[in-house]
Amino acid sequence: MISGLIERYRARLPVTPATPIVTLGEGGTPLVRADRLAARAGLKEGSLYLKCEGANPTGSFKDRGMTLAISKALEDKAKGVLCASTGNTAASAAAYAARAGLPCVVFLPKGAVAAGKLAQSLMYGAKILEVRGNFDEALKTALDTARSSGFTVVNSSNPWRIEGQKTGAFEIIEQLGGAPDFQFMPVGNAGNITAYWRGYSESGPVRPRMMGFQATGAAPLVLGRPVLNPKTIATAIRIGNPVSRDAALKAREESNGLIGKVSDAEILAAYRLLASLEGVFCEPSSAAGVAGLLKLRRQGFPLPGRSVCILTGHGLKDPDTPMKFHYKRKVVSPGKKIRL
Ligand code: F0G
Repeated sequence: MISGLIERYRARLPVTPATPIVTLGEGGTPLVRADRLAARAGLKEGSLYLKCEGANPTGSFKDRGMTLAISKALEDKAKGVLCASTGNTAASAAAYAARAGLPCVVFLPKGAVAAGKLAQSLMYGAKILEVRGNFDEALKTALDTARSSGFTVVNSSNPWRIEGQKTGAFEIIEQLGGAPDFQFMPVGNAGNITAYWRGYSESGPVRPRMMGFQATGAAPLVLGRPVLNPKTIATAIRIGNPVSRDAALKAREESNGLIGKVSDAEILAAYRLLASLEGVFCEPSSAAGVAGLLKLRRQGFPLPGRSVCILTGHGLKDPDTPMKFHYKRKVVSPGKKIRL
């Protein structure tokens, strides 16, 4: 029997004995100590950790919220579920809906979803609607459609999503034996930073400073206004008008944290370092928090104590980005002597 995070944290989640649990064994992801990356950032051994959310069943942190959102949709006898997505929410919704036997419709910004994520939605049997427009327009289209459909929206505007995702904070506290001093993470629609802050806030008075990072071309929370035409290579966080804006700003204020921006070049540099220094392959967007940490360190920003970076999705989600880099590859013939 697989047991997921609803069973593990039942007492701290809004479920009842009547809630049918839809799980794929999500949560319980590794917290990896990153000493080589710490040294690169001028930090002490044992002070930097990576929460590898790509180890969730569909390869991203979205599964934490989706197990709860789909369980609740089933309990509430929804006709089906729908979402707009830059790819990961769709993959997760499609998987959990398949398991629950519920129809799933996903609205994707056409041409702006990484190949692995699209493949997942296809395989799990979701109805895929590609919207001519960006994520923000896809979300508006999804919400307009939901109104007349009887389908439940499983974007992070769905309160169960945030509730499920807060369990990431519970796990980090258990794995470290206490809350970290700083938490670095990417920010797109701003649900995850909201969820982690709730998780820490429910766990006690010692909480990390929340350090969120957006891509320079998609940084509405840094600019203080929506971005009409967001641009970044980090397609998962190519979002111009985040749904959870107010809650994210509150997390920043209450934690004495910050929301900053990092360029695509900085994101890609962190993405490559994570893989080559630590053996951890995440998707480009997931590296935004690490890029932010490295940027702050270059500026002399002190990071006393322990820092955790949330790596939100697996590198295999996006097999195309690595192929754009120049790798030394050599073709060799069998039987000939090869010099290494
Ligand atoms: N990292 C990854 C890999 C994501 O897929 C997302 C969001 C984020 C970070 C940002 O999280 O939105 O809670 O601030 N992906 C959504 C999606 C938008 O549709 O899959 P957030």
